[in-house]
Amino acid sequence: MLPLFFHFLVLLAHASSVRPQQLQPKNIFILAGQSNMAGRGGVVNGAWDGIVPPQCQPNHSILRLSANLAWVLAQEPLHADIDANKTNGVGPGMAFANAVLSKDPTFGVIGLVPCAIGGTSISEWGRGTSLYKRLLRRAQAALQDGGTIQALLWYQGEADTVTKAAADSYQAKLESFFSDVREDLKSPMLPIIQVALASGSGHFVDIVREAQLGIDLLDLRTVDAKGLPLEPDGLHITTQAQVQLGQMLAATFLQLLPSGRPILSPIHSSAPRRCSNFVLDFGRSIIKMNQHYTIR
Ligand SMILES: *[C@@H]1O[C@H](CO)[C@@H](O)[C@H](O)[C@H]1NC(C)=O
Ligand SMILES: *[C@@H]1O[C@H](CO)[C@@H](O)[C@H](O)[C@H]1NC(C)=O
Repeated sequence: MLPLFFHFLVLLAHASSVRPQQLQPKNIFILAGQSNMAGRGGVVNGAWDGIVPPQCQPNHSILRLSANLAWVLAQEPLHADIDANKTNGVGPGMAFANAVLSKDPTFGVIGLVPCAIGGTSISEWGRGTSLYKRLLRRAQAALQDGGTIQALLWYQGEADTVTKAAADSYQAKLESFFSDVREDLKSPMLPIIQVALASGSGHFVDIVREAQLGIDLLDLRTVDAKGLPLEPDGLHITTQAQVQLGQMLAATFLQLLPSGRPILSPIHSSAPRRCSNFVLDFGRSIIKMNQHYTIR
């Protein structure tokens, strides 16, 4: 009893050393797609080199929604517990969030919601599939503590370059996916920033790229990854390329905001907050964070 109570006090002390708004990410971003969104930067022969560039370091203003739906301090590899059957490395998410914060230090706490799974084709993301349902579930869980979904960041399509039939049907499936996500999140204007392919698992990369670049949806922006350096596997972009991509995504996102402020009116949660749950998990992330910084 006593040790437990003591533990609780320690957690409370940790939790109270942070400003209250840090308990609720204001600005939520969904990260989805396949391996280059999950992050394979620095992964060679199935092992991650563990190198985290300065642009991808943790920051107390960047949280991530863990696989068990708790907000924790975000750190690489962001998808480690999501794309859990694969070796994850550096993806674009941390560089994106750090770039947004460095361009706009008053932006507020960012909550990243990783959902990407390596090797998945566009059909596996269609409405009603398990990946689609998990994305919705995680997006809704992310809103339980308040905040607004600011954008969906999407990098996928490498798996759809293997047959011409798959590449030819890509555009229609992608458009449906984007529209369905907006509809099911009740956010018809949800900004979407997609990445046009740098590489593919098959020969039909140009067809998929044309499909991506040819989509004409409101509030959809495309960042082109073509030409970014690849790992020796020829499929995955490198750590430095992920840093560049994250920064391009951030610049594109900030351009979407009139006068640099989020004035979007998407989804707000009306559900009660899961405070107790959160403080415990947050306490854990603070303890982890102490390994990186001294907190006042
Ligand atoms: C990991 O592999 C197991 C067993 O094959 C499977 O049930 C599970 O869905 C996989 N998880 C992910 C995230 O792919
Ligand atoms: C964390 O982000 C804030 C902006 O919100 C910035 O002022 C600060 O320097 C960053 N800290 C680190 C360690 O990068």
